[in-house]
Amino acid sequence: MRIAVESGDITAARTDAIVVNLFEGVTSPGGGTGAVDRALGGAISDLIADGEIRGKSGEMTLIHTLGRMATRRVLVAGLGKAGEFDLDAVRNVSARAARFLRARGVRTAATIAHGAGIGGLEPRACGRAIAEGAALGLYRFDKYKSEDDPAPEFESLSVVEFDPGRVDDLSAGAREGEIVAGAAALCRDLVNEPGNRLTPADLAEAALGVAREADIELEVLGEDRMRELGMGALLGVAAGSRLPPRLIVMRYAGDPDDPGNSLGLLGKGITFDSGGISIKPALRMGEMKTDMAGAASVIAAMKAIGALRPRINVTAIAAVAENMPGGGAQRPGDIATAMNGKTIEVDNTDAEGRLVLADAACYAISLGLGRLVDVATLTGAMTVALGTVATGAFGNDRALMDAVLAAGRGAGERVWEMPTYKEYRRQLDSDVADIRNIGGRAAGSITGAMFIGEFVGDAAWVHLDIAATARSGSVRGWRVKGATGVPVRTLVDLAVSLAR
Ligand code: BES
Ligand code: MN
Ligand code: ZN
Repeated sequence: MRIAVESGDITAARTDAIVVNLFEGVTSPGGGTGAVDRALGGAISDLIADGEIRGKSGEMTLIHTLGRMATRRVLVAGLGKAGEFDLDAVRNVSARAARFLRARGVRTAATIAHGAGIGGLEPRACGRAIAEGAALGLYRFDKYKSEDDPAPEFESLSVVEFDPGRVDDLSAGAREGEIVAGAAALCRDLVNEPGNRLTPADLAEAALGVAREADIELEVLGEDRMRELGMGALLGVAAGSRLPPRLIVMRYAGDPDDPGNSLGLLGKGITFDSGGISIKPALRMGEMKTDMAGAASVIAAMKAIGALRPRINVTAIAAVAENMPGGGAQRPGDIATAMNGKTIEVDNTDAEGRLVLADAACYAISLGLGRLVDVATLTGAMTVALGTVATGAFGNDRALMDAVLAAGRGAGERVWEMPTYKEYRRQLDSDVADIRNIGGRAAGSITGAMFIGEFVGDAAWVHLDIAATARSGSVRGWRVKGATGVPVRTLVDLAVSLAR
């Protein structure tokens, strides 16, 4: 889909459809919606008076213009209550309107800028949210379907703004929105691929694609190098699979003169998590193709960071392996030694994400990275704690945590802080090694996080557990069924906000 912003009168648009909007409770529409209402001889006001259009959030009303306007259809999109209106609402209305129109064969549409007028939101942020919403909402993963979806591809959306003074900001925002939504789409594409179509080597290949298009340095460590470095935790996880692991390292140098101005993004990249010898039950095991979403999100974030070029050095490190049972697999009770020399009692081979991230964190520390954010589909317990609404954030540094939470708010990806009280640490005590990889049933997401925290040295660190947010079982606004692309946009906003 192409997206453009232009100044003009929406009633003159010649696209297949035009999109206007209405807040709940408004009886005589103003702005662009009012102008379209007049062009239609008061059809919108009539439908409001009849109670058919109420402006409720998610409401979509299609009106056929029957020759009264250059366009054949007008879509009136409900914005919900004015008091609850925000950029999230803009993203969602933009996504729903685009999907609604595509399902009816519409290929080109013009829209007024939701929120930039009486909505009172900043035009730049609105332009971004409109572009993000439409691009994310129209996303489809159909490459393995032999027959095309009956709804043809949506070709172009043009945002038509009456006030010429707002066009530049709307345009700049739309451009950013296209970039970050493009990165989120890459993440979704990778996460949606099943374990047989996206192996550790394939994920490294995808990272190479990103590195090539945007002046990013790529280094891929294989098994031999991992052995030299002593990455026993990562190697232990990979031991049961026929597919060799990879450590993918991507470096973006946005501030080469100041190496201290840096951010490390670590990602869990289990291309399939069977549980290993501590094998998972069959029910919904297929969803474990999602277990590389952390790695996909940091690789995809680098695509947007490489395009936006903030003044900060960002290094992404994806720890990639497949967790399988097999003759060579690690066993429950085995003791692994991580790159920093710490010994780990592997009490449950299904708690593998923290193992691969332990070595990724050690590697990040060896590179001198002082600020780390790791992203992982780490614990099923996350669904119990926060449901599928919010990602859990755990950390050891107030400033970095606040920056992550703020980035999540800006991106419209909910992130909620969880505690890392020292009292939980004893749940990870082992009788035989320095630490154990499971901490019992209580506070499973917290002990999982704190396990990773044991390997970050003195670095400021935040862990994002996306186990419940990386995939959606239903269509919800800008989210479609399948991979969500969370938290790519948060990571990109974080890098931009930390840049000097
Ligand atoms: N990849 C899973 C976590 C997961 C579960 C993600 C459900 C998405 C949906 C992780 O590797 C895992 O198996 N975690 C265990 C940890 C336990 C053994 C301490 C879990 O959550 O049960
Ligand atoms: Mn597991
Ligand atoms: Zn896992």
